[in-house]
Amino acid sequence: MKKTIIKGIGHYVPENIVTNKDLEKVMDTSDEWIRERTGIQERRVATRFRETTTTMGAKAAEMAIKDAGIDKNDIDFIVFATLSPDYYFPGCGVLVQRMLGISEGECGALDIRNQCSGFIYGLSVADQFIKTGMYKNILLIGSETHSMGLDYTTRGRDISVIFGDGAGAVVLQPTEDAERGILSTHLHSDGRHAEKLAFISPGCHGGYYEEDTEKYGFSDNPYDPVFLTEDMLDNHLTFPYMDGQHVFKFAVTKFPEVIQEALLATEKSPEDISLLIPHQANLRISQFVQKRLGLSDDQVYNNIQKYGNTTAASIPIALSEAYHANKIKSGDLVCLAAFGSGFTWGAALLQW
Ligand code: ACO
Repeated sequence: MKKTIIKGIGHYVPENIVTNKDLEKVMDTSDEWIRERTGIQERRVATRFRETTTTMGAKAAEMAIKDAGIDKNDIDFIVFATLSPDYYFPGCGVLVQRMLGISEGECGALDIRNQCSGFIYGLSVADQFIKTGMYKNILLIGSETHSMGLDYTTRGRDISVIFGDGAGAVVLQPTEDAERGILSTHLHSDGRHAEKLAFISPGCHGGYYEEDTEKYGFSDNPYDPVFLTEDMLDNHLTFPYMDGQHVFKFAVTKFPEVIQEALLATEKSPEDISLLIPHQANLRISQFVQKRLGLSDDQVYNNIQKYGNTTAASIPIALSEAYHANKIKSGDLVCLAAFGSGFTWGAALLQW
């Protein structure tokens, strides 16, 4: 069976930089609090209505296609990972296809909504398609416009200071070289933690919120529009909710677990890892994982300081930065790992 290689890599981040000091002006927070708790110093914020998840994804894709040295019409499948799509439907995959004019009517497009682990899930899906010979050039994009959906007031400060906007993309191809490519991918989920990090649609009061219908002022008449009440705003029902400490506790357990699982499956050990690129959730989480696995500073790539947490985009942005800065060379063992909302988590090992 063929193996899958990453042939081209690209990324795009908005020019607009928002520092922690900038956030101090709009909410009760401090540069010190944000740095100490998350490691973040600044993040990029998209230009409203001009830069979207699709437009940023398209820019990252163009760079990846150019880097791969292929024509855009060679792309036969698009996988787009995001939690902040331009539309509820259709997905961003078809919007990127239209924007770049890729293989119109010929190639397939699929959106993945697995939040922070969306890129790893996308990589695994693409790997299966390539290994079976179904596709030859898959464009995998992770892109997020968090800034459009965050509460930049003191009420939402625990979440809004963490996230940033940006996009990354890779082009995946088959190789006959048995020594190279994706060695293994590992995916997990545990929906028991779904509401610990979630953005719940205001309309979904029939399930999780059944007992809260009255409390939050929802109408249970299916023909009534769903109004945003003050209660809903106060209770974070119109913005993402996160139980930070719960997420932290699971992230620092599941990250090392799934990396060890990938190493075991490929008969490798932590010393073999040339570069670990963890999902940039929080610098403290990355440092914890590094320590648990006994990795040196040179073996781990972090850039959350500059971009914040860009969810599905964080791994491909970091991969692109590291690759284009010559931090990854032929023969290196690269490990990608993510943990996030769902909870979902996963890891991939690649021989470069
Ligand atoms: N600025 C200042 N103070 C704040 C802020 C802020 N931005 N946000 C919260 N606080 C306050 C709280 O109100 C609280 O005040 P109180 O003690 O008066 O009640 C105090 O800071 C401590 O709040 P905690 O939530 O206990 O702070 P904690 O030390 O847990 O840090 C954090 C919060 C950074 C979110 C932490 O829990 C964390 O890192 N969790 C992991 C979550 C994560 O990484 N999420 C990323 C997305 S998920 C993913 O990608 C895996």
